[in-house]
Amino acid sequence: MTLRAVIKGSGSALPARRVSNAELAETVDTSDEWIVERTGIRFRHIAGEHETTATLATDAARRALEAAGIAATDVDLIVLATATPDQTFPASATKVQAALGINDCVAFDVQAVCSGFLYAMSVADSMIRGGGANTALVIGAETFSRILDWEDRTTCVLFGDGAGAVVLQAEAGEAGILSVALHADGRHNQLLYVDGGPSTTGTVGKLRMRGPEVFKHAVVNLATVLGETLAKADLSIADVDWVVPHQANRRILDATARKLGLSPDKVVVTVDEHANTSAASVPLAFDAAVRDGRIKRGDLIVFEAMGGGFTWGAAAVRY
Ligand code: UT7
Repeated sequence: MTLRAVIKGSGSALPARRVSNAELAETVDTSDEWIVERTGIRFRHIAGEHETTATLATDAARRALEAAGIAATDVDLIVLATATPDQTFPASATKVQAALGINDCVAFDVQAVCSGFLYAMSVADSMIRGGGANTALVIGAETFSRILDWEDRTTCVLFGDGAGAVVLQAEAGEAGILSVALHADGRHNQLLYVDGGPSTTGTVGKLRMRGPEVFKHAVVNLATVLGETLAKADLSIADVDWVVPHQANRRILDATARKLGLSPDKVVVTVDEHANTSAASVPLAFDAAVRDGRIKRGDLIVFEAMGGGFTWGAAAVRY
């Protein structure tokens, strides 16, 4: 039987502070009406002083291990997707490793912004199928609130903080990651970027985005890559039980579903509660739908995401 990376459990973590659109409108020139109509976002969580990418990632990882019934010491690989690490180095994955009391495993970060979780999952899947790892924690964690320009209403209302994690384990059978499709096109890296960094300005920088242009690329790329990953697994859109998309904008989710002929009832939507949490958004949405009973064992799930770079990708998974 084919050896696959099976999702044994999931977990997530959100900062304690939940901020409504109305609260944002007290300090930013915006309104609840505009944000809801143009994005579907109602709330976002914002990290407090003692909450960081690594602490949120650790909380999500603990919950995922608990759900999987797997001990932290069994983990031999941690791949953490983030564009907002605690420090430029070491990798935040090693902070999670230390916090979980794992003294020796492979641990590193991957950086593909909003597609980071898909990239991280693909790396872990390859290592598991290649025999380089048996039990992996794949985490998406971000504190985008720390790189937002709070004077720029065209971006600061869109993002939030959080973390989601899954435990993948090698198993022979029908379940697991069936196919992955990943892409990047660096010609577009000036449409969504951070205007600082260690090797250029020596500062952290702030997020900059040409939203409407990103929007147009997102719908086309996401619909195409979703079809591509299904074709790789010899499946069609009719086989899909749930699409778990990157949560950037409700209108992107609706437009992509329309383009694919997919019923909106099969799309997990959490953008209203979480806003755009970049690499954390897919595992956060997945964990929410597992815990509220929508996603069940045996379901066919497609994860998809698109972000700065541009990077984009999708994965078909039998849960
Ligand atoms: O995670 C990676 C992927 N990221 C994305 O996928 C984001 C993709 N882009 C989007 O989601 C949308 O393009 C946005 C939500 C960013 C913007 O929505 P839009 O419908 O494309 O609006 P727009 O940028 O064309 O702006 C329309 C108007 C402008 O005013 P004028 O020029 O028409 O007078 C903006 O100044 O809305 C104004 N506006 C706002 N008004 C109130 C922009 N931001 C705000 C705001 N509150 N926060």
